[in-house]
Amino acid sequence: MENVCGYATLKIEDKDVQLPIVVGTEGEKALDISGLRKNTGYVTLDPSFMNTAACYSQITYVDGEHGILRYRGIPIEELVKTESFVEVAYLLVHGQLPDLEQRKLFSSLLNVNSLLHEDMRHFFDHFPRGAHPMHILSTMINALAAFYPNVDTQSLSEDIDLSTARLISIVRTMAAFAYKKSIGEPVVYPRHDLTYCANFLNMMFDSSVAPYEIKPETVRLLNILFILHADHEQNCSTTAVRTIGSAQVNLYATISAGISALSGPLHGGANQEVVAMLRMIAEDGNIEKFIRRAKDKNDPFRLMGFGHRVYKTYDPRAVIIKKECHAFLKKAHINDPLLQVALAVEQAALNDEYFVERHLYPNVDFYTGILYRAMGIPENMFTVMFALARLPGWIAHWKEMLGGNTKIVRPRQIYVGKTPNKA
Ligand code: CMC
Repeated sequence: MENVCGYATLKIEDKDVQLPIVVGTEGEKALDISGLRKNTGYVTLDPSFMNTAACYSQITYVDGEHGILRYRGIPIEELVKTESFVEVAYLLVHGQLPDLEQRKLFSSLLNVNSLLHEDMRHFFDHFPRGAHPMHILSTMINALAAFYPNVDTQSLSEDIDLSTARLISIVRTMAAFAYKKSIGEPVVYPRHDLTYCANFLNMMFDSSVAPYEIKPETVRLLNILFILHADHEQNCSTTAVRTIGSAQVNLYATISAGISALSGPLHGGANQEVVAMLRMIAEDGNIEKFIRRAKDKNDPFRLMGFGHRVYKTYDPRAVIIKKECHAFLKKAHINDPLLQVALAVEQAALNDEYFVERHLYPNVDFYTGILYRAMGIPENMFTVMFALARLPGWIAHWKEMLGGNTKIVRPRQIYVGKTPNKA
């Protein structure tokens, strides 16, 4: 069997069971328990998958102990220096960075598919004012299957390539339209002469009465933020995508489910929650009080933007974002009081035994919202920004799942309910 480097012996009811030990390319070891039930009648129990590898994957590597994140073997620190988001999207979806020809073809696919079907544009009129853009986005993406050829696990690879480019491009248009609609302004259509991120900013902020100036430093920053959010292996929304995709659901419905998972405050929704929290702390002025509350198990308050299931050190994305945050605000002469509060909260938490013992550090969401504010992105769009950036990652995982010999995801359970004779 591939990747097997030995066997572990498990003793169950006086029976010795051999479990294959598999090892990944970065040396992570796992026990393959897929044959356990067949051989012993036992299943394994691991609520919330705290200790379960659900698949083999070649897309993203995370080392939570050392704060390492690589896409297809390339460190994020390198990618943010040399590549744009479109190149990184290609890297994730296709497995390698594009050469010149591939880059041209991919860009033209993104351009040609950036327009939303006009009939779909009218959908925006029927959402109530104040609807959260994440709800609008997941609904609209699900509806794409009704307007564009359905792509599913049986589709030809050219159709899949076309649909994935359409999705990456059109979702950006949808997000900007949703925002324009929410402020009662006419939508701005995508332009073929603009790069991916510049196009998005223009659709968000341009208007016939106040033309938007596209600043290279803002475009650069958006590229960095999008690259840093583009994938993060088996997180909650990606697991949703792989799980739903395993039922051979079409791509659009599958991605829509990923968006819904991302919207939760413990996942992508945290970037919006962080800013709300920092504002609350700034208004109150007493940081220690909030640190106390975060530690109190009887208080539902948590330090948003802190902690991570995998990282037990500083999130490498947060390292870059914090640095960019200082530089961008300084260059733009923005004095955001929330940045000072964020720095003070971080300092207080990192010096507190509770956070130290539990290895709780700032995660990707802690400084992101401050940067989005500085770029003029409204708070209820923060998680939408995360979703736009995560699309290539979700698509890459969906494609990888198709390529593997994936069976429908179907965990077992340990039933602890009533039995007929207990009534
Ligand atoms: N504030 C206070 N205590 C915390 C926090 C926090 N932000 N995060 C974890 N803890 C405590 C938790 O109460 C537990 O304490 P104890 O051992 O005494 O019971 C311990 O640390 C371990 O935490 P956990 O909740 O068991 O860890 P988890 O892996 O299940 O949860 C998490 C990870 C990210 C959901 C959690 O840290 C959290 O709720 N953080 C705040 C929300 C947030 O920032 N989410 C964004 C995550 S990164 C981007 C993304 O995934 O989208």
